[in-house]
Amino acid sequence: MHSGTGTPAVLTQDPVVIVGAGHSGVAVAAGLRARGWKGGILLIDAEQELPYERPPLSKELLKDGASDDSAVLRKQKFYADKGIERLAGVAAESIDRDGRAVLLSDGTRQVYHRLVIATGSRARPLTVPGAGLPGVRSLRTRADALELKRLLVPGTRVAIIGAGYIGLEVAAAAAAKGCEVTVLEFQDRVMSRVTSAPVSRHFEQLHGRHGVRFVFGAAVTSIDGVKRAEGVTVADGTAFPADVVLAGIGVLPNQELAADAGLECRDGILVDGDGRTTDPAIYASGDVTRFTSPIDGASQRLECIQNALAQADSVAAHITGQAAAEPEVPWFWTVQHGVRLQTAGVRHPEDQVIVRGEPAGGKFSVVYLRDGSLAAVDTIANLTDFRTAKRLIAQGARIDPVLAEDPAIPLAEAISGTPNHPDADLAAARS
Ligand code: NAI
Repeated sequence: MHSGTGTPAVLTQDPVVIVGAGHSGVAVAAGLRARGWKGGILLIDAEQELPYERPPLSKELLKDGASDDSAVLRKQKFYADKGIERLAGVAAESIDRDGRAVLLSDGTRQVYHRLVIATGSRARPLTVPGAGLPGVRSLRTRADALELKRLLVPGTRVAIIGAGYIGLEVAAAAAAKGCEVTVLEFQDRVMSRVTSAPVSRHFEQLHGRHGVRFVFGAAVTSIDGVKRAEGVTVADGTAFPADVVLAGIGVLPNQELAADAGLECRDGILVDGDGRTTDPAIYASGDVTRFTSPIDGASQRLECIQNALAQADSVAAHITGQAAAEPEVPWFWTVQHGVRLQTAGVRHPEDQVIVRGEPAGGKFSVVYLRDGSLAAVDTIANLTDFRTAKRLIAQGARIDPVLAEDPAIPLAEAISGTPNHPDADLAAARS
């Protein structure tokens, strides 16, 4: 990690140019100013409206009676006060690395001192026949969310392809609005990318109680309809009638700008711990990056706000010659039918799975151990386990599976094999 302190001088007349005004891009701009950067900052934003929060798009924004104004990340005044110039409705089309310039969709060329690529990700497109019919939607932008909201009226038959975060959050919102919801998932359970079977089962039952129907092992072969989507057909020939089809089948990193400029990409722009790409004048931050986890050394591309903000801080710190904050354990959350799943750490499918508590009671955690160390925790209505797990994962704590299984024993007291660990005395005193 780059270190060194001091108020950064203006080294150049050229600004730091940030491409992309999602959580990460805006945080880089704010972080540069907070860290004393005195030079220009130019934020290239393909969207017209003020940069906004994404989490409400698949939750609160879809609710009846909710305002169409989603929360903005920063008010207009912030950009003006901080001297952050925002070019709205303009996309970066290519990078001239030798000339240290980006070429923009408005035909202009913008020279940079440092370039930050924070272009995020896009919804993975559905490619089956009929996917282009009106009524087939994805959800990534505020405009997508508002259009979906308009379509979700009582009695509407909604087919959702993909039982990931997007599919399930929208299923909950649509069911609450009186829609008939069918979720078609390729795998044999919900949220299989991010969680284990016990958590999947809990959420499947929850959705079931709200009338959401699941079809697992569903390989969609076509979207049917003439002038607009009328249904979805899967590989065994079953057809599901639908007025609205939502594809929530994952995302693709918007890495083309970097790849076309010769920066190394592998399902994400490769960056180091300071957010630097393979060109020392170019950084990348957020969903679009792939990097080595400082926690467990895994190569990863993280799709979460925590990472978008942490990487933004690393980039702003490095550009200004300062030390970044200590790396944080990644964390995630989703809310479906009012039930909140909070996850700390990144689970791997081969991790040992320990259920703490009784899922039927509505409060439980699932602990993931990797070679005996705490790797991740899913928590439902258990903020204490969530907070404790974040700390223990960062410490590389080893956990006794038998102790961890007992919800009456605080997670911090389930430490094993680390006699010098500050929490080990507690565990010893208890046993
Ligand atoms: P996801 O990766 O979470 O889930 C996609 C699901 O679609 C998987 O279950 C996968 O098995 C399934 N799938 C893929 N292809 C399929 C096919 N052809 N037919 C049927 N099922 C198929 O991605 P999702 O839900 O689209 O979310 C997109 C992005 O938005 C992610 O980055 C996610 O992290 C983010 N997001 C996060 C939220 C949160 O953290 N609460 C909420 C909403 C979105």
